[in-house]
Amino acid sequence: MLLSDAEKAAVVSVWAKASGNVNALGGEALERLFLSFPQTKTYFSHFDLSAGSQDLQVHGGKVLGAIGEATKHIDNLESALSKLSDLHAYNLRVDPGNFRLLSHTIQVTLAAHFQAEFDATAQAAWDKFLAAISTVLTSKYR
Ligand code: HEM
Repeated sequence: MLLSDAEKAAVVSVWAKASGNVNALGGEALERLFLSFPQTKTYFSHFDLSAGSQDLQVHGGKVLGAIGEATKHIDNLESALSKLSDLHAYNLRVDPGNFRLLSHTIQVTLAAHFQAEFDATAQAAWDKFLAAISTVLTSKYR
């Protein structure tokens, strides 16, 4: 999925704000996921899912860190995310529908923290970007 130059710029400008705080923001996106869509907790029964827990922060940091890395490879997500794609398809077997849910709570988290940057263009761009990441991470299911 190709993003226009304006959409890529919007993704990068929001990411510039978020990149310094990946653990807290990623943890918040996960917390929103588990609160809003409780069925997603089933993949994380080995985690402490209480608000602000170390597990949420550390895992949130990993998820947002991977997304941050992807902002550097927007035109080449397939190879940039190849290992993560293997992990989610072959090992974790996360139901593909859950990616849409996490993409949503990531956007809500970014919108809540970066109101000035997260305008309508940025929202549309992030929606596309996260959908493209999700497509790659679910592409190897069979
Ligand atoms: C692990 C990224 C979506 C469930 C991971 C890791 C990363 C990651 C970076 C750590 C890999 C490692 O330790 O080597 C992402 C990204 C996603 C996404 C970028 C989409 C934007 C999801 C969804 C679920 C999920 C939707 C389920 C609701 C898991 C689980 C683990 C994991 C269960 C292993 C956790 C552990 O035991 O440490 N993911 N993920 N992921 N992911 Fe995802």
